[in-house]
Amino acid sequence: MPVIEIKNVSKTFKTVKAVNELSLTINQGEFVALLGPNGAGKTTLIEMIEGIQSPDKGEIHIMGKTWKGHAHELHHLIGLSLQETKFIDKLNTEETLNLFGSFYNLPKSRTEEVLDMVNLQAKRKTFTVNLSGGQRQRLALGIALLNNPKILLLDEPTTGLDPGARRELWYILEKLKKEYNTTMILTTHYMEEAEYLCERILIMDKGRFIAEGTLNELTQKHGEGEIIEINLDKEINLSGISGIKKTNWEIPNQKGRIYVDNIAETLPALTAITSTQNIKILELECRRMTLDDLFISMTGRHLHE
Ligand SMILES: Nc1ncnc2c1ncn2[C@@H]1O[C@H](COP(=O)(O)OP(=O)(O)OP(=O)(O)O)[C@@H](O)[C@H]1O
Ligand SMILES: [Mg+2]
Repeated sequence: MPVIEIKNVSKTFKTVKAVNELSLTINQGEFVALLGPNGAGKTTLIEMIEGIQSPDKGEIHIMGKTWKGHAHELHHLIGLSLQETKFIDKLNTEETLNLFGSFYNLPKSRTEEVLDMVNLQAKRKTFTVNLSGGQRQRLALGIALLNNPKILLLDEPTTGLDPGARRELWYILEKLKKEYNTTMILTTHYMEEAEYLCERILIMDKGRFIAEGTLNELTQKHGEGEIIEINLDKEINLSGISGIKKTNWEIPNQKGRIYVDNIAETLPALTAITSTQNIKILELECRRMTLDDLFISMTGRHLHE
């Protein structure tokens, strides 16, 4: 049985179709990223899965059950963190976890376990109002983890965090996947986050999924392959090198991008030709297409716009 099953779900606000006829099946242990620009419909979709909003049309089943009539059971399966979390300023970290734990009748020992999991032992006596952004996000995640959820739904858990704090949160989530086989949907604007954490990536725009798959599948299906960026001291003649799909030069035949099927196959031929043509390589960068490259090629816009 799928953990989450969404069938033809729509939600409209006045004239805005925030979510437009979406269907999606998520299995046990999958980590899914919902990636898309502002207003794509990510929060609306995730809040419908959380039972906070209800669809105008379509059905959502979680472990085979709808929210209607099964809210109590589903609350015990799901841990969630919202796009913005407000804490009670005059409670400290430990008291905040105890309070939320009490809603589930959890013993205080669970607070200790969660403080360890989200690495907040050192801040247990700090008022929530005095926590840093990264610490607040970890506390929000800690609250989501209190009742040992099978399903974790996180709306932009790392927005606004510095790269170090973001990685720290990634490691916690990675561990959850390994140790508890948790199923997770996470929304994000950061393509590297989707790439790092999630096997499966859904790119959303204007209420619809415009692409879906692993990063490799997405780049193979929609992308231009892999990219070699090169800067040479003089012009190169690339004829005779196979696997080149197209070139995009800043300085013709000297500085620019070479789109190839496979870097590992083309790069040796390219470097061999530079030495036979007596050309010096000034700069060389090889990379896969990023999700941002992909989003631009599909919509003409950046993910961050
Ligand atoms: N309660 C509401 N009333 C009216 N319009 C809404 C409401 N909630 C969402 N919308 C609209 O629906 C669209 C989708 O919003 P949503 O918050 O789901 O986007 P998002 O992908 O989460 O964006 P962001 O990355 O900025 O969080 C937007 O155009 C938004 O203005
Ligand atoms: Mg949102």
